[in-house]
Amino acid sequence: MEQSNFSADAAVVGLGRVGLPLALTLADRGLKVIGIDNDPARLGAIRDGRMPFSESGAQEVLTRVSAAGTLSLDDHVATAAGARHIVLTLGTPSFSHIEIDMRDIRSALDDLLGVLVKGHTLTLRSTVAPGTTEFVAGYLAKHRGFRIGEEVFVAHVPERIAAGRFLAEIDTLPCIVGGVGERSGDVAAELFEAFSAPIVKTTPVQAELAKIWANILRYTNFALPNLLMMDCERYGANVFEVIDLINRDYPRGGIAKPGLTAGTCLRKDFAFSEERSNAPGMLLAVSRVNESVPLFLLEGAKRRLGTLAGRKVAVLGLAFKADTDDERDSLAHKLIRLLERELADVCVHDPHVSGPTATLQAALQDAEAVFLAANHSEFRDPRLLEKLAQACSKHCLVIDPWDCWGAGQVFGYASELATLSGAAS
Ligand SMILES: NC(=O)c1ccc[n+]([C@@H]2O[C@H](COP(=O)([O-])OP(=O)(O)OC[C@H]3O[C@@H](n4cnc5c(N)ncnc54)[C@H](O)[C@@H]3O)[C@@H](O)[C@H]2O)c1
Repeated sequence: MEQSNFSADAAVVGLGRVGLPLALTLADRGLKVIGIDNDPARLGAIRDGRMPFSESGAQEVLTRVSAAGTLSLDDHVATAAGARHIVLTLGTPSFSHIEIDMRDIRSALDDLLGVLVKGHTLTLRSTVAPGTTEFVAGYLAKHRGFRIGEEVFVAHVPERIAAGRFLAEIDTLPCIVGGVGERSGDVAAELFEAFSAPIVKTTPVQAELAKIWANILRYTNFALPNLLMMDCERYGANVFEVIDLINRDYPRGGIAKPGLTAGTCLRKDFAFSEERSNAPGMLLAVSRVNESVPLFLLEGAKRRLGTLAGRKVAVLGLAFKADTDDERDSLAHKLIRLLERELADVCVHDPHVSGPTATLQAALQDAEAVFLAANHSEFRDPRLLEKLAQACSKHCLVIDPWDCWGAGQVFGYASELATLSGAAS
């Protein structure tokens, strides 16, 4: 990278699930990095050499980087001005007003405003509503008079790697760079040349749209099988058989399997598009389908078992997707709240999340219904069927929208699952 007067190469503001892996990997490639976060617990964990959340392979990188001393930590956003490249990896939730909540970005911008100098590059790595990168550039021009793209550089370089896959994809997934003005794209791209992934330059709004619409596509892709699952229940059809009929040897794409579709990104990113949609409500309908899956599963269980009041119900999985410890915006929590409102005795097990949950044995013991709320690898193991058979009665209802064992039943009885899945000897 070009020589400069800055004491560090890069500052990463917000050491969350996106920022920390980025800061660590840049530091591991020999760059001098400042990591900034205002959460003392998070900084404390990193200082102690402990990953504050699970990210495949990141603990080893943290250990290496701690020994090398290439990552310094701070709790003041303004400290980021010591680096030539300032990367914002702050949270961007959505308000219930169907509008991006930019308070963290605005607050960081205000902290940086007085300390930015010519030569700085400000890169938005967070997912943002279309137009946000131009807003940030305009904000700096308005309040500091910088010529953006000539004196100070502003770009959007969206994070497109899924949690848990950072190290697997950072050197391969094309890196989209949307720079404002003449040179922002080129200058922002220099930082990401530390990785070997191809760099694709475009305009800021196209970078913003590409990121948001990749998530909209996934969110919608999962809503369709979820809606089909509900339709199949209404018509007395088997959703997995219908999916097989759709997909088998069909040469023009296929449909995914149903499941609980949520998580912090998918649940909010469509709202950034709904802010000013040409088809208002279309994506809200997608959201309503995914959000109604917990209630659909609960009502299906009640249709088969009668009231759940005072009956033991096991919920397996709290995380929002398979094999992660991330519970943010997980529909498992919604399912549990709904079950509690039925006065069920709920017992939860998740081998991945950081908070305490019951053991698998304790959750299953004498359960009358078992909900698979996440499709963790542990739950896809056919040996779980044996445990189910031992711990629950054969009349126990197993609710498995993922088809974890290939039994092909969203609502199946413990007694028949092993046979249906082909696991019975
Ligand atoms: N998590 C993912 O898998 C993922 C994937 C792609 C994109 N994104 C996007 O990346 C962005 C960050 O997501 P995340 O999951 O890493 O969020 P996160 O909540 O895990 O991380 C944000 C971090 O910023 C810190 N922070 C908040 N305000 C601060 C301030 N004023 N000063 C310093 N630190 C501050 C928080 O303490 C936290 O550690 C979001 O826009 C998200 O939509 C996330």
